[in-house]
Amino acid sequence: MSLLEVDGLTRFYGGLRAVGDLSFTVGEGEILGLIGPNGAGKTTVFNLITGFVQPSAGTIRLDGKSVVGLRPHAVAARGIARTFQVVKPFPGLTVKENVTLAAFLRHPSRRDAEAAALEVLGRLGLGHRAGDLASQLTLMDQKRLEVARALATGPRLLLLDEPMGGLNPSEVDVASRLVDQIRKGGVTVVLVEHVMKAIMRISDRVVVVSQGEKIAEGPPAQVVKEPAVLAAYFGKRAAP
Ligand SMILES: Nc1ncnc2c1ncn2[C@@H]1O[C@H](COP(=O)(O)OP(=O)(O)O)[C@@H](O)[C@H]1O
Ligand SMILES: [Mg+2]
Repeated sequence: MSLLEVDGLTRFYGGLRAVGDLSFTVGEGEILGLIGPNGAGKTTVFNLITGFVQPSAGTIRLDGKSVVGLRPHAVAARGIARTFQVVKPFPGLTVKENVTLAAFLRHPSRRDAEAAALEVLGRLGLGHRAGDLASQLTLMDQKRLEVARALATGPRLLLLDEPMGGLNPSEVDVASRLVDQIRKGGVTVVLVEHVMKAIMRISDRVVVVSQGEKIAEGPPAQVVKEPAVLAAYFGKRAAP
């Protein structure tokens, strides 16, 4: 059985079908790249899986058990964490406080939650910023903090929404290694990312969506050559 099974997932916003009859699975220990042009429905898929938005149709199962209808907090308790495309730390709290809040999910005592937060921050190379305000971090470190908050909830499955957006090439290399390190630590990853170099390098498999539907699936090097994928990405920009 796959860790995550999404079947027939559909979400309408009024007359707009943001996600349409989408099915895919994620195996334990895998890094799955979820790619597609802007507006393809990628963030909506994450919102659906994590209970921020309810599906119009379809099923979502973690370890064979449905997570549809659960509130975001309950989905997190089941072991699914996500980051946001636009980072959302509490700017007036310290880095450590931000991560401690997330760690309370598994560690009800403050002392244990703080210890867990410091452990995650150390793993992500942010230990030395623990006492700084989140608002004082660089973009790269804010992205790290976003990942640290997600990891502090103790997930089995981590959904990363464009973690490399806005980073320079050497920061992208660092972030790619970080994602690989997270997987080696036993967490399965779904990665939404526009930085193709990173997707190609670290995804085991890629699912391509366009206008809410899956248009291709397979190893990254193979998928990027498929005509439907090239058309979805470049079709509208073809020379007149
Ligand atoms: N809350 C919402 N209300 C109305 N339309 C939405 C909402 N969220 C997303 N959409 C629409 O759904 C489509 C998919 O959006 P999104 O999932 O953000 O795409 P992506 O992350 O792939 O860029 C877009 O057309 C977007 O405008
Ligand atoms: Mg998005």
